[in-house]
Amino acid sequence: MNDSSWENSQKWYNDIVGPQGHYYHTQVVLPNTLRLLNLNLNSTLLDVACGQGVLARAIGKVKHYCGYDLSSSLINEAKKLNKFKNFTFFVHDATKTLDPSLGLFSHAACLLALQNIPSPQEVFRSISAHLESGGKFVFVINHPSFRIPRMSGWIIDEKKKLQSRRLDAYMSHQKIPIATHPSQPNSQNTLSFHYPLSYFCDALKNSGFYIETVEEWCSNKTSTGKMATQENRARKEFPLFMAIVAIKK
Ligand SMILES: C[S@@+](CC[C@H](N)C(=O)[O-])C[C@H]1O[C@@H](n2cnc3c(N)ncnc32)[C@H](O)[C@@H]1O
Repeated sequence: MNDSSWENSQKWYNDIVGPQGHYYHTQVVLPNTLRLLNLNLNSTLLDVACGQGVLARAIGKVKHYCGYDLSSSLINEAKKLNKFKNFTFFVHDATKTLDPSLGLFSHAACLLALQNIPSPQEVFRSISAHLESGGKFVFVINHPSFRIPRMSGWIIDEKKKLQSRRLDAYMSHQKIPIATHPSQPNSQNTLSFHYPLSYFCDALKNSGFYIETVEEWCSNKTSTGKMATQENRARKEFPLFMAIVAIKK
């Protein structure tokens, strides 16, 4: 098993995502991804690092859907929850080339996973080889400028009553293990990787894409209580997610 797979954390992840998705899937990531993908009945979609298939269950009918992930248990769960005959799921390492017989797709997506895979550049190359010219690739990542595990966090200026982001590193690439259950001594880990925004732009260009759109999505939560004003302001200032729409040249 490649060490970036979520196989060891699959039960925990499957429980928090469930059939419909976790809070940010349902409130922010899925509705906005569907708007950007703009699929129709003739679309064919490649879902890279699909986990237990949350996107497959949100898209409705398309001509063909194909999802893959490195975790065999998450792929089994995706198959169990699937309702469409023309949707297929298989285990595959997204940094490796795909079987040429898979053919070309009109769309590709990768939700909240590129920062869990070493070398997104290799993932882009592999996707590019299976997208039609003019095909659309939508990916969503944790905002790389504001959410760097262990290297970013909130700071509060009591005098100004301001909540801001503090960054301890940004340009350097990072590999960061994250405990699935931090309070337990023998918790499983997942791996996160950090790359600055320029890495993603260069990697797309080097893989035959141009960037059509960049969007930044904030949390839709609202605080109550004594810190509400500064927390609500900070939530609107610092986006949680970045979505990039890239077109295959
Ligand atoms: C945060 S989950 C996101 C899954 C799904 N896209 C979703 O939104 O629920 C990250 C996923 O990346 C997968 N992954 C990690 N490394 C991978 C690799 N090299 N190839 C394919 N999938 C990988 C993990 O197994 C996990 O399912």
